[in-house]
Amino acid sequence: MSGVKATKCKALLRVLIPWVLLTNIMVVLYCLRNPNQVKLRGSQEDTCPLGVAKLQKKSLIKQSHSEECSPKENIMFMKTHKTASSTILNILFRFGEKHKLRFAFPDGRNDFFYPSPFLCSQVKDYKPGECFNIVCNHMRFDHQEVSKLLPPDSVYATILRDPVDLFESSFHYYHKAVPLTWRIRGENKLVEFLNNPWAFYSPEAFNSFYLKNLLFFDFGLDNNLEADDPRVMTEIKNLSRRFHLVLIAEYFEESLILLKDLLCWTMEDILYFKLNARKSSSVSHLDAEMRAKALQWNGADWKLYQHFNGTFWARVEAYGRERMKQEVEELRRRNAEMKDICIEGGGAVEAQKIQNRRFLPWQPVGESSILGYNIKKDIDPRFKTLCEKMLTPEIQYLSELGVNLWLTRLWGWLKDTIY
Ligand SMILES: *[C@@H]1O[C@H](CO)[C@@H](O)[C@H](O)[C@H]1NC(C)=O
Ligand SMILES: *[C@@H]1O[C@H](CO)[C@@H](O)[C@H](O)[C@H]1NC(C)=O
Repeated sequence: MSGVKATKCKALLRVLIPWVLLTNIMVVLYCLRNPNQVKLRGSQEDTCPLGVAKLQKKSLIKQSHSEECSPKENIMFMKTHKTASSTILNILFRFGEKHKLRFAFPDGRNDFFYPSPFLCSQVKDYKPGECFNIVCNHMRFDHQEVSKLLPPDSVYATILRDPVDLFESSFHYYHKAVPLTWRIRGENKLVEFLNNPWAFYSPEAFNSFYLKNLLFFDFGLDNNLEADDPRVMTEIKNLSRRFHLVLIAEYFEESLILLKDLLCWTMEDILYFKLNARKSSSVSHLDAEMRAKALQWNGADWKLYQHFNGTFWARVEAYGRERMKQEVEELRRRNAEMKDICIEGGGAVEAQKIQNRRFLPWQPVGESSILGYNIKKDIDPRFKTLCEKMLTPEIQYLSELGVNLWLTRLWGWLKDTIY
């Protein structure tokens, strides 16, 4: 009896101690590094002026591939959680690198102190009035703050995913970081949670936002609004004014074609391999009843998703269904071509089978459920660099782009040593 208790207690401590430690380190560090964040907030003078973004024009002229438009290089991509957004980040990193654009990166870690609201002062080398080209790391969105970093003509884009699948994925990935869920007994914790969410959820509890309307939270909104609260629709309308394009993960290829069209990019710019996919055995398949419960639980996100699914398809309609079909086919064909050129065995493999750590994606706590790739050994030298870049996971790519990730690495080390 006491043996069981001791084991449980130890398990609890194993989770608790690193979290407390890490949170403290981060808070201290944050305060040390950003003593004047309060002053920066809300100041109107530090807005990035039009046309000042570094290197804005140089590459535009020679790159221009059509008479009508030139490739857009000032982009805010709001990276949402569990929505295939890592794949889009890879595309943005490659484009930015190729055109020598200036990224607004975080410092010390791979996100902008998420879940704290975004502040310009979290950007590496930020000074009031300074302009950047691309912002794309995880953040809790704040339009006013972000707009200080970018020229006013920047394109704002983001991506959404069906909230039921997003919730399933988020629960899988983060529930161990939400202390209230540690009490859930039984085999299928997700089902237990959905059957009685209020027993394991409280709006104020540590990290609880991962388990309710995570999209709303990411956009800087109140994730505890009920779906029928009129503020939900007001916020959605607000967002639709901020974002020029909202992609839908379920229609990923169509999404990229719309993005390419909006940014005036080439097909080559949007080639991709699906990054950060989860092995299918780790995905809980919810039945109709559970899906309905998950949907109701994430009602605000559901409204958000439905709204932008509607605007998405209106855009596809405007673009032309037949034209879209052809473009998607072309994208698939070229992706398949790249797969043949770059990937050993032709597809994703489990983490244990990845030979080179450079291509090993970040894994959730206590698991290795995220798939990755092995790069082919004798790649045609013309494609070698492109293959490497397309296959490089987010953390490694950030490192290669010069981002200092010591906090992320410390957490990774704790995660791998303790669990
Ligand atoms: C929506 O935007 C307006 C102005 O842009 C702002 O005043 C308001 O607080 C935002 N949110 C809601 C819920 O209206
Ligand atoms: C999204 O829109 C498409 C096209 O109108 C529709 O077929 C699909 O059912 C919609 N999805 C949701 C979840 O509403």
